[in-house]
Amino acid sequence: MSLGKKTNIYELVLVGDADRPGLPEIMRGVLVNAGLQEKDVIESRIDGRISVSSYFNVKRNAQKIEAKIRAGRLNKVAVRLRRLESRDWQNKWKEDFRPFRLTRRIDVVPTAYRHSYRPKGRKKIYIDTVLAFGTGLHETTSFMAKLIEETAGKFKNFLDVGTGSGILSLVAAFNGAEAVWAIDIDKSCVEVAQENFKANAYSSAQLKVADVGVWKTNQQFDFVAANLISDDLIRLKKKIFSLVKPGQYLALSGISLENFSKVKKAFAALPLRCVQIRQGSRWAAVLYQRTQRKTRT
Ligand SMILES: C[S@@+](CC[C@H](N)C(=O)[O-])C[C@H]1O[C@@H](n2cnc3c(N)ncnc32)[C@H](O)[C@@H]1O
Repeated sequence: MSLGKKTNIYELVLVGDADRPGLPEIMRGVLVNAGLQEKDVIESRIDGRISVSSYFNVKRNAQKIEAKIRAGRLNKVAVRLRRLESRDWQNKWKEDFRPFRLTRRIDVVPTAYRHSYRPKGRKKIYIDTVLAFGTGLHETTSFMAKLIEETAGKFKNFLDVGTGSGILSLVAAFNGAEAVWAIDIDKSCVEVAQENFKANAYSSAQLKVADVGVWKTNQQFDFVAANLISDDLIRLKKKIFSLVKPGQYLALSGISLENFSKVKKAFAALPLRCVQIRQGSRWAAVLYQRTQRKTRT
């Protein structure tokens, strides 16, 4: 989405009670069912309320999605569409996005809180912009971050397939990755990741716009992280697998529970040992270790 000064931005937001079990997933699901992509939905919590928002350049597009959502009559969820002033838009994420605990050792800190949020003994990932998937608030990202942290010390180089905001590359760098490759099919995500790397004074990643399916490299990696939708994981499984060094790690996330057995079955055909599964109310992630055995892929 272009952020030029004269761009109109429309915010469609659903707001509900943060204590209501499963509500964030329901609200996200409603937006996705209405035609949005997961990556375009931003979740935030503030003062006991949870909100999921999406942003549009074209009012008519926002209104179409709003109409579908209102037709579904969500119980105890407020639906709001408003035009943001350029000033509001540039500051919006700063209001809604607060520091939070991502893993046992790492907090995510919006750069607006860089000077005010300084807990002792915690590592901090600064996020400068949330205009790509990967604030860390989504379960698929936090599962990945935890799997990476738990594998700390066992990998030197790391490949982030579908880097989005770049958050997983930063988690990997905090956990001992000496060399990081981050790719995304979407140029705007690569730009966002670049800004977030800069906010963390991190300049060691090789960041590229690339579709993993056709990405040409002779390298294999100690840890490959792919947080993609289930159908893409299945479609790209051979290519993703081929990027993992024998004996090393592959983490998959972005798997909705209804697709979990399909994904596990697809990857069961490859020489991989399941090391750990993380499962929530709607999503699952898996950590595999590639066996040493040489195979044709
Ligand atoms: C769910 S987001 C994950 C973002 C971040 N890695 C995280 O875990 O929060 C998936 C990302 O993968 C990217 N993507 C989708 N298909 C891809 C492909 N074939 N090759 C590379 N990136 C892809 C999307 O543009 C998006 O940024």
